[in-house]
Amino acid sequence: MVRVSPAWLALREPADAAARAIDLVEDVRRLLPASAPVVVHDLGCGTGSMARWLAPQLSGAQHWVMYDRDADLLAHAAANVPPLSADDSRVSVETRQRDITRLDQRDLTGASLVTASALLDMLTAAEVERIARSCVEAGCPALLTMSVTGRVDLTPSDPLDDAIASAFNAHQRRTHGDGPLLGPDAVGAAADVFATLNAEVDIRPSPWRLGASESALAVEWFRGWVSAACEQRPELTAATHAYVEQRLADAAGGRLRVTVHHHDLLAVPRDR
Ligand SMILES: C[S@@+](CC[C@H](N)C(=O)[O-])C[C@H]1O[C@@H](n2cnc3c(N)ncnc32)[C@H](O)[C@@H]1O
Repeated sequence: MVRVSPAWLALREPADAAARAIDLVEDVRRLLPASAPVVVHDLGCGTGSMARWLAPQLSGAQHWVMYDRDADLLAHAAANVPPLSADDSRVSVETRQRDITRLDQRDLTGASLVTASALLDMLTAAEVERIARSCVEAGCPALLTMSVTGRVDLTPSDPLDDAIASAFNAHQRRTHGDGPLLGPDAVGAAADVFATLNAEVDIRPSPWRLGASESALAVEWFRGWVSAACEQRPELTAATHAYVEQRLADAAGGRLRVTVHHHDLLAVPRDR
């Protein structure tokens, strides 16, 4: 298991908040019960950034059930609960240390909404199918945000960009456990499985647009991007030394612009 660092999650939290598709939140508001408290199950919650983003945009009392396999991240999430909902109603939180790929319909009974952020692309097709099936069987909409599409745009551009991008995407699709991870294929796979299960699916772009003011995130993302690409294709390593130096100089000089494309998906079971 690769642990996700709280420092990385803190760095990306503002960019995720700026990127997620707001129009899907409009749809979510219409789907939630008007009177009963809203119960949201957040899968792979990390330090709880999805709740801090979404809870203040929803009205009424909310109870968030946060799942992660990492106890330290769950402790952080429990200690940093969003204070209030949009109309100042109470937001409560409980945490569950679980493998979210093993959840079933019973775990989600009573849920008004399932959410996830930056999770789907870390899973296999079988795992995404299990999650989709559990949501649909529980009659629960799912808002699954910030899945990478595999497309990135760097400015200034460089002839090495495409080779690194394709090696990085191959690294994302590496085999793990019961099959290849989905990486950039995650949203397409999730959309197909939800459609097969008779859910209506809506997909929206949610790109990170990182400029000079987001250079700390851009640099950290860039280092991870190149390092994963070189792990996948070690023969690229020698060529990346000057490339990395130039990119870091561009970032320090406020010249580096990075767009990392993501997709958000909302799936709503037709028989709810
Ligand atoms: C990239 S982080 C995103 C965290 C959070 N949703 C956010 O947007 O800040 C992915 C999270 O999913 C958790 N995770 C990945 N696979 C999991 C699994 N099978 N069961 C439980 N948690 C999992 C990781 O521990 C990590 O906290």
